[in-house]
Amino acid sequence: MAKQRDHWTSSLGFILAGTGAAVGLGNLWKFPYITWQNGGGSFVLIYLVSILLVGIPVMIAEITLGRSAQLSTVSALEHHARDMRGTRFWSLLGWGGVATGAVVLGYYSIIAGWSISSFVQCIGWSLNGYTPPAEHEFAHFTANGWLQIGLALLFASVTAAIVMRGVSAGIEKASRLLMPILFVTLLLLSFNALTLSGAREAVAFLFTINSIEWHGVLEALGHAFFTLSLGMGAMITYGSYMKKDEPIIKSTLVIAGLDTLIALIACLIMYSILFTYPEVHEAMTSPVGMLFITIPKLFYTQMTGGIILAPVFFILVGFAALTSTISMLEVVVALMVDKLGVKRKLATIASAASIFMLTIACALSHGASAWFTQFNPLRGATQGFWGELNRVIFHNKQGVFNIVDHIASNWCLPIGGALITCFVGWCLDERLLKEQLKIEKPFYFKCLKIVLRYLAPILILIVIYGVNT
Ligand code: PHE
Repeated sequence: MAKQRDHWTSSLGFILAGTGAAVGLGNLWKFPYITWQNGGGSFVLIYLVSILLVGIPVMIAEITLGRSAQLSTVSALEHHARDMRGTRFWSLLGWGGVATGAVVLGYYSIIAGWSISSFVQCIGWSLNGYTPPAEHEFAHFTANGWLQIGLALLFASVTAAIVMRGVSAGIEKASRLLMPILFVTLLLLSFNALTLSGAREAVAFLFTINSIEWHGVLEALGHAFFTLSLGMGAMITYGSYMKKDEPIIKSTLVIAGLDTLIALIACLIMYSILFTYPEVHEAMTSPVGMLFITIPKLFYTQMTGGIILAPVFFILVGFAALTSTISMLEVVVALMVDKLGVKRKLATIASAASIFMLTIACALSHGASAWFTQFNPLRGATQGFWGELNRVIFHNKQGVFNIVDHIASNWCLPIGGALITCFVGWCLDERLLKEQLKIEKPFYFKCLKIVLRYLAPILILIVIYGVNT
């Protein structure tokens, strides 16, 4: 007899796990930085519209695919496409999604590892007093290959230990524990930040409409995918552990709403600190600088209670990253379990170990090894056909970490998302969709279909074109 599929124990279990997958370094590390770079208000507005018009419909599409088939990414697509032409193509799309998940996990673990080292450093500062880091100290830290590998290994091991325990006893249990801690910590930090004199300016920066460049518009739309973990099968996989009677639309709205709220709160905290101490504005030249260098310094030198808040802040970053790495590993593990019939324990060890090979390459690409740091398959090509190809595909980036991040976030996730949306909009049986989503009013169903068939894919195509050319 086939083994019974493990499920989330309740809607809340799914919502916490889904929010855990969505909320991560994208919210705390990337969003505050790109919002800052793009000048605030208008960028936030376009981001919100992107979440509403593209993010939410794509997430609904993904969860529906998974839940109705009760199978993870590749098997779910094959199941729904079994009587159609082009089954092979949809199956390949599934494999592509899983591969993207693996790649994102490969480099994400590096940054996740930094949250551990920052936490340890903060504990040291809290106990012994703050000593400002020497110039280039962070660069020396990232160039220490063994240390980078060690930190990422620690993070990957915790991720694997949780995934190995399964859906309800591992992933859901961890989310039930970690997510409330994350919410409370964030609220605590934001109350503290709101008492700072720069809080008013931070709010104004976030919500005042100003001018924005075209590239910023595309970046906002692209980030909607990354932050909601779309386009690579995470939500298909998580949806496949949902019981048949749990609401898809309501859960999606809660997950997307919480993800957005947390991203905005993260901005509020960071900007309140930054506007209170304008002398540090020039440090805002990279997301790394902001999260791992500027913020700790401000905690210790300027804020009351900083000696407690600083380590707490990095626990928050670590937990947020952990619930996301869990979801990425689960995408690969679920494929091996559902499609290849491998036992979960073996599947977890095998996939985590293979993905870690990429992590090692990424760990060495921040200065530890010249070859990995300068890696670009088209290196040296600046002119002519190859030069153009280098610009279009790799954006002239260098280093394994930067290259895989660029390819995964700007090519694979949007393309995957567009195709999955098209599949649900055009190919999935309409009755099945109606039955799954329980939309009573024909008008609402029609609107959703228009979004899935035309609006979302077209907007995504525009992003792919714009970001990559
Ligand atoms: N959504 C996660 C974040 O914001 C990142 C992620 C991307 C997770 C893709 C899973 C899949 O950090």
